[in-house]
Amino acid sequence: MERIFFINGHFVPASEAFISAEDRGFNFGDGVYEVVHWYNSQPFLLEEHIDRLIESAHVIRIELPWTKDELIEIAKETALKNNLQDDYIYMQISRGKAVRQHSFPVNIKPTLVMNTQPSAKPSDEVRQKGARVITLPDIRWLHCDIKALSALANVLAKQAAKDHNVDDVLYDRSGVGIVEGGSSNIFYFKDNKLMTPPLSPYIFPGITRGKVIEVAYECNFEVEEKVLSLPEVLEAEEVMLASTGLEVLSVTEINGRKIGAGVPGPIAYKLWQTYMQHVKEACY
Ligand code: PDD
Repeated sequence: MERIFFINGHFVPASEAFISAEDRGFNFGDGVYEVVHWYNSQPFLLEEHIDRLIESAHVIRIELPWTKDELIEIAKETALKNNLQDDYIYMQISRGKAVRQHSFPVNIKPTLVMNTQPSAKPSDEVRQKGARVITLPDIRWLHCDIKALSALANVLAKQAAKDHNVDDVLYDRSGVGIVEGGSSNIFYFKDNKLMTPPLSPYIFPGITRGKVIEVAYECNFEVEEKVLSLPEVLEAEEVMLASTGLEVLSVTEINGRKIGAGVPGPIAYKLWQTYMQHVKEACY
Protein backbone atom coordinates (compact mmCIF):
# COMPACT_ATOMS: atom_id res chain seq x y z
CA MET A 1 0.00 0.00 0.00
CA GLU A 2 1.36 3.41 -0.92
CA ARG A 3 1.96 5.62 2.10
CA ILE A 4 -0.33 8.60 2.58
CA PHE A 5 1.22 11.95 3.54
CA PHE A 6 -0.52 14.91 5.10
CA ILE A 7 0.62 18.10 3.39
CA ASN A 8 -0.87 21.49 4.18
CA GLY A 9 -4.40 20.33 4.76
CA HIS A 10 -4.54 17.43 2.28
CA PHE A 11 -3.87 13.73 2.44
CA VAL A 12 -2.00 12.63 -0.69
CA PRO A 13 -0.19 9.46 -1.79
CA ALA A 14 3.61 9.52 -1.28
CA SER A 15 4.13 9.70 -5.07
CA GLU A 16 2.23 13.02 -5.10
CA ALA A 17 3.62 14.41 -1.87
CA PHE A 18 5.49 17.53 -2.97
CA ILE A 19 6.30 20.86 -1.44
CA SER A 20 7.57 23.96 -3.19
CA ALA A 21 11.23 24.36 -4.21
CA GLU A 22 10.91 27.74 -2.48
CA ASP A 23 9.93 26.20 0.82
CA ARG A 24 12.15 27.61 3.55
CA GLY A 25 12.58 24.13 4.98
CA PHE A 26 14.41 23.28 1.74
CA ASN A 27 16.23 26.59 1.32
CA PHE A 28 17.35 27.20 4.90
CA GLY A 29 16.33 24.23 7.04
CA ASP A 30 14.07 26.88 8.58
CA GLY A 31 11.72 24.77 10.60
CA VAL A 32 11.26 22.16 13.28
CA TYR A 33 10.19 18.55 13.51
CA GLU A 34 9.15 15.75 15.81
CA VAL A 35 8.99 11.97 15.72
CA VAL A 36 6.42 9.85 17.54
CA HIS A 37 6.48 6.08 17.94
CA TRP A 38 3.26 4.18 17.37
CA TYR A 39 3.09 0.76 19.03
CA ASN A 40 0.19 -1.57 18.32
CA SER A 41 -1.47 1.24 16.32
CA GLN A 42 -1.40 3.56 19.36
CA PRO A 43 0.87 6.57 19.86
CA PHE A 44 3.29 6.63 22.78
CA LEU A 45 3.66 10.03 24.51
CA LEU A 46 1.99 11.86 21.60
CA GLU A 47 0.92 14.84 23.70
CA GLU A 48 4.44 15.34 25.05
CA HIS A 49 5.87 15.30 21.51
CA ILE A 50 3.24 17.74 20.23
CA ASP A 51 3.94 20.06 23.17
CA ARG A 52 7.62 20.02 22.27
CA LEU A 53 6.87 20.61 18.56
CA ILE A 54 4.85 23.66 19.54
CA GLU A 55 7.62 24.83 21.86
CA SER A 56 10.33 24.35 19.17
CA ALA A 57 8.21 26.36 16.70
CA HIS A 58 7.69 29.05 19.33
CA VAL A 59 11.43 29.37 20.01
CA ILE A 60 12.18 30.02 16.32
CA ARG A 61 9.14 32.33 16.08
CA ILE A 62 6.95 30.32 13.74
CA GLU A 63 3.35 31.16 14.52
CA LEU A 64 1.36 27.98 14.18
CA PRO A 65 -2.13 28.20 12.68
CA TRP A 66 -2.95 24.80 14.23
CA THR A 67 -3.95 24.21 17.83
CA LYS A 68 -2.45 21.40 19.86
CA ASP A 69 -5.69 19.41 19.48
CA GLU A 70 -5.66 19.91 15.72
CA LEU A 71 -2.06 18.68 15.46
CA ILE A 72 -2.95 15.63 17.54
CA GLU A 73 -5.97 15.00 15.33
CA ILE A 74 -3.90 15.25 12.11
CA ALA A 75 -1.30 12.86 13.52
CA LYS A 76 -3.94 10.31 14.48
CA GLU A 77 -5.66 10.68 11.11
CA THR A 78 -2.33 10.15 9.33
CA ALA A 79 -1.79 7.00 11.38
CA LEU A 80 -5.27 5.70 10.58
CA LYS A 81 -4.99 6.42 6.85
CA ASN A 82 -1.73 4.46 6.81
CA ASN A 83 -2.95 1.64 9.01
CA LEU A 84 0.06 2.39 11.18
CA GLN A 85 1.06 -0.37 13.57
CA ASP A 86 4.61 -0.35 14.96
CA ASP A 87 6.17 2.59 13.16
CA TYR A 88 6.82 6.31 13.42
CA ILE A 89 5.10 9.48 12.38
CA TYR A 90 7.39 12.34 11.40
CA MET A 91 5.93 15.84 11.73
CA GLN A 92 7.81 18.54 9.88
CA ILE A 93 6.94 22.22 10.04
CA SER A 94 8.72 24.92 8.07
CA ARG A 95 8.20 28.66 8.13
CA GLY A 96 6.57 28.29 4.71
CA LYS A 97 7.15 29.12 1.07
CA ALA A 98 8.52 32.47 -0.06
CA VAL A 99 11.01 34.05 -2.44
CA ARG A 100 14.43 33.45 -0.93
CA GLN A 101 15.49 35.98 1.68
CA HIS A 102 17.05 35.12 5.00
CA SER A 103 14.89 37.22 7.33
CA PHE A 104 11.29 36.18 7.97
CA PRO A 105 8.98 36.98 5.04
CA VAL A 106 5.66 38.54 6.03
CA ASN A 107 2.29 36.88 5.55
CA ILE A 108 3.41 33.36 4.81
CA LYS A 109 1.75 30.23 6.04
CA PRO A 110 3.85 27.53 7.68
CA THR A 111 4.17 24.24 5.83
CA LEU A 112 3.08 21.14 7.72
CA VAL A 113 3.92 17.62 6.60
CA MET A 114 3.13 14.46 8.51
CA ASN A 115 4.17 11.09 7.23
CA THR A 116 4.74 7.58 8.43
CA GLN A 117 8.20 6.10 8.47
CA PRO A 118 9.21 2.50 9.16
CA SER A 119 10.63 2.27 12.66
CA ALA A 120 14.41 2.01 12.79
CA LYS A 121 14.69 -0.18 15.85
CA PRO A 122 18.15 -1.52 16.73
CA SER A 123 18.85 -4.85 15.04
CA ASP A 124 18.64 -8.01 17.16
CA GLU A 125 22.42 -8.21 17.02
CA VAL A 126 22.88 -4.67 18.40
CA ARG A 127 20.26 -5.39 21.09
CA GLN A 128 22.13 -8.53 22.12
CA LYS A 129 25.71 -7.26 21.89
CA GLY A 130 25.17 -3.59 22.68
CA ALA A 131 26.07 -0.64 20.48
CA ARG A 132 29.62 0.22 19.45
CA VAL A 133 30.14 3.96 19.22
CA ILE A 134 32.86 6.53 18.60
CA THR A 135 33.17 10.03 20.01
CA LEU A 136 33.29 13.00 17.66
CA PRO A 137 33.88 16.68 18.29
CA ASP A 138 30.46 18.31 18.53
CA ILE A 139 30.33 20.78 15.64
CA ARG A 140 26.61 21.50 16.10
CA TRP A 141 25.28 24.94 16.92
CA LEU A 142 24.30 26.38 20.30
CA HIS A 143 20.60 25.57 20.10
CA CYS A 144 20.68 21.79 20.30
CA ASP A 145 17.67 22.06 22.62
CA ILE A 146 15.26 22.58 19.72
CA LYS A 147 14.43 19.98 17.13
CA ALA A 148 15.50 22.03 14.12
CA LEU A 149 15.08 20.75 10.57
CA SER A 150 18.66 21.80 9.86
CA ALA A 151 20.43 18.66 11.04
CA LEU A 152 23.51 18.73 8.80
CA ALA A 153 26.00 18.17 11.62
CA ASN A 154 23.95 15.18 12.80
CA VAL A 155 23.85 13.82 9.25
CA LEU A 156 27.65 14.08 8.97
CA ALA A 157 28.12 12.51 12.40
CA LYS A 158 25.85 9.56 11.62
CA GLN A 159 27.66 9.04 8.30
CA ALA A 160 31.00 9.09 10.16
CA ALA A 161 29.65 6.27 12.35
CA LYS A 162 28.78 4.33 9.22
CA ASP A 163 32.18 5.06 7.66
CA HIS A 164 33.88 3.75 10.84
CA ASN A 165 31.65 0.68 10.86
CA VAL A 166 30.16 1.46 14.29
CA ASP A 167 26.56 1.89 15.36
CA ASP A 168 26.49 5.48 16.53
CA VAL A 169 28.43 8.47 17.79
CA LEU A 170 28.69 10.43 21.01
CA TYR A 171 29.08 14.20 20.65
CA ASP A 172 32.03 15.54 22.66
CA ARG A 173 31.68 19.29 23.02
CA SER A 174 34.81 21.25 23.83
CA GLY A 175 34.62 22.39 27.45
CA VAL A 176 31.24 20.71 28.03
CA GLY A 177 32.03 17.01 27.70
CA ILE A 178 29.95 14.16 26.34
CA VAL A 179 26.57 15.72 25.67
CA GLU A 180 24.50 13.12 23.83
CA GLY A 181 24.34 10.40 21.20
CA GLY A 182 24.03 10.98 17.44
CA SER A 183 20.24 11.19 17.75
CA SER A 184 19.66 10.12 21.34
CA ASN A 185 20.38 11.10 24.94
CA ILE A 186 23.10 9.45 27.01
CA PHE A 187 23.10 7.91 30.48
CA TYR A 188 25.73 6.01 32.40
CA PHE A 189 25.54 3.94 35.56
CA LYS A 190 28.18 3.70 38.27
CA ASP A 191 28.16 3.13 42.03
CA ASN A 192 24.38 2.68 42.13
CA LYS A 193 23.72 5.97 40.41
CA LEU A 194 22.43 6.88 36.96
CA MET A 195 24.04 9.99 35.47
CA THR A 196 22.98 12.10 32.54
CA PRO A 197 23.88 15.61 31.39
CA PRO A 198 21.55 18.35 32.65
CA LEU A 199 19.19 20.13 30.26
CA SER A 200 21.04 22.95 28.49
CA PRO A 201 21.37 24.45 25.01
CA TYR A 202 23.91 21.67 24.30
CA ILE A 203 21.48 18.78 24.49
CA PHE A 204 18.09 17.90 23.16
CA PRO A 205 15.49 17.47 25.94
CA GLY A 206 14.45 14.01 24.76
CA ILE A 207 10.98 12.85 25.71
CA THR A 208 12.54 9.40 26.24
CA ARG A 209 15.22 10.93 28.49
CA GLY A 210 12.44 12.30 30.71
CA LYS A 211 10.66 8.97 30.74
CA VAL A 212 13.87 7.06 31.54
CA ILE A 213 14.53 9.35 34.51
CA GLU A 214 10.97 8.65 35.72
CA VAL A 215 11.51 4.92 35.20
CA ALA A 216 14.87 5.05 37.03
CA TYR A 217 13.20 6.50 40.13
CA GLU A 218 10.53 3.83 39.84
CA CYS A 219 13.34 1.24 39.90
CA ASN A 220 14.80 2.94 43.00
CA PHE A 221 17.95 4.13 41.26
CA GLU A 222 19.50 7.40 42.25
CA VAL A 223 19.71 9.87 39.35
CA GLU A 224 22.17 12.71 39.02
CA GLU A 225 22.20 15.31 36.25
CA LYS A 226 25.78 16.41 35.75
CA VAL A 227 28.29 17.30 33.08
CA LEU A 228 29.93 14.07 31.81
CA SER A 229 33.57 13.83 30.81
CA LEU A 230 34.82 11.19 28.40
CA PRO A 231 37.21 9.57 30.94
CA GLU A 232 34.39 9.06 33.47
CA VAL A 233 32.04 7.67 30.82
CA LEU A 234 34.76 5.19 29.81
CA GLU A 235 35.02 4.06 33.46
CA ALA A 236 31.24 3.52 33.79
CA GLU A 237 29.77 0.15 34.70
CA GLU A 238 27.15 0.63 31.98
CA VAL A 239 26.42 3.24 29.32
CA MET A 240 23.12 3.60 27.52
CA LEU A 241 21.39 5.66 24.87
CA ALA A 242 17.73 6.65 24.96
CA SER A 243 15.43 7.90 22.21
CA THR A 244 12.04 7.36 20.65
CA GLY A 245 13.54 4.79 18.29
CA LEU A 246 16.22 3.15 20.45
CA GLU A 247 14.07 3.11 23.59
CA VAL A 248 16.91 2.20 25.99
CA LEU A 249 19.98 0.68 24.35
CA SER A 250 23.23 -0.50 25.94
CA VAL A 251 26.51 0.88 24.65
CA THR A 252 29.24 -1.70 25.13
CA GLU A 253 32.17 -0.13 23.29
CA ILE A 254 33.38 3.46 22.96
CA ASN A 255 36.33 4.30 20.69
CA GLY A 256 37.27 0.61 20.65
CA ARG A 257 37.30 0.35 24.50
CA LYS A 258 34.94 -2.00 26.23
CA ILE A 259 32.52 -0.55 28.77
CA GLY A 260 32.22 -2.60 31.97
CA ALA A 261 32.09 -6.27 31.07
CA GLY A 262 31.69 -5.40 27.37
CA VAL A 263 28.18 -6.85 27.21
CA PRO A 264 24.76 -5.28 27.83
CA GLY A 265 24.29 -5.00 31.59
CA PRO A 266 21.41 -5.58 34.00
CA ILE A 267 20.70 -1.89 34.67
CA ALA A 268 20.08 -1.04 31.03
CA TYR A 269 17.94 -4.15 30.75
CA LYS A 270 15.89 -3.23 33.81
CA LEU A 271 15.39 0.35 32.55
CA TRP A 272 14.40 -0.89 29.10
CA GLN A 273 11.98 -3.49 30.47
CA THR A 274 10.35 -0.97 32.79
CA TYR A 275 10.16 1.57 29.95
CA MET A 276 8.50 -1.08 27.76
CA GLN A 277 6.06 -1.77 30.56
CA HIS A 278 4.97 1.88 30.27
CA VAL A 279 4.63 1.38 26.51
CA LYS A 280 2.46 -1.69 27.12
CA GLU A 281 0.23 0.11 29.58
CA ALA A 282 -0.22 3.02 27.17
CA CYS A 283 -0.56 1.20 23.85
CA TYR A 284 -1.75 -2.39 24.36
N1 PDD B 1 15.99 11.97 17.46
N2 PDD B 1 19.08 13.89 20.99
C1 PDD B 1 19.06 14.08 19.67
C2 PDD B 1 20.19 14.83 19.02
C3 PDD B 1 17.99 13.56 18.89
O1 PDD B 1 17.96 13.75 17.56
C4 PDD B 1 16.97 12.82 19.54
C5 PDD B 1 15.81 12.23 18.79
C6 PDD B 1 17.04 12.64 20.93
C7 PDD B 1 15.99 11.87 21.68
O2 PDD B 1 14.75 12.50 21.68
P1 PDD B 1 13.40 11.70 21.93
O3 PDD B 1 13.59 10.91 23.14
O4 PDD B 1 12.39 12.75 22.10
O5 PDD B 1 13.19 10.83 20.71
C8 PDD B 1 18.11 13.19 21.62
C9 PDD B 1 14.89 11.42 16.69
C10 PDD B 1 14.55 10.03 17.09
C11 PDD B 1 15.15 11.64 15.22
O6 PDD B 1 15.77 12.65 14.90
O7 PDD B 1 14.70 10.85 14.38
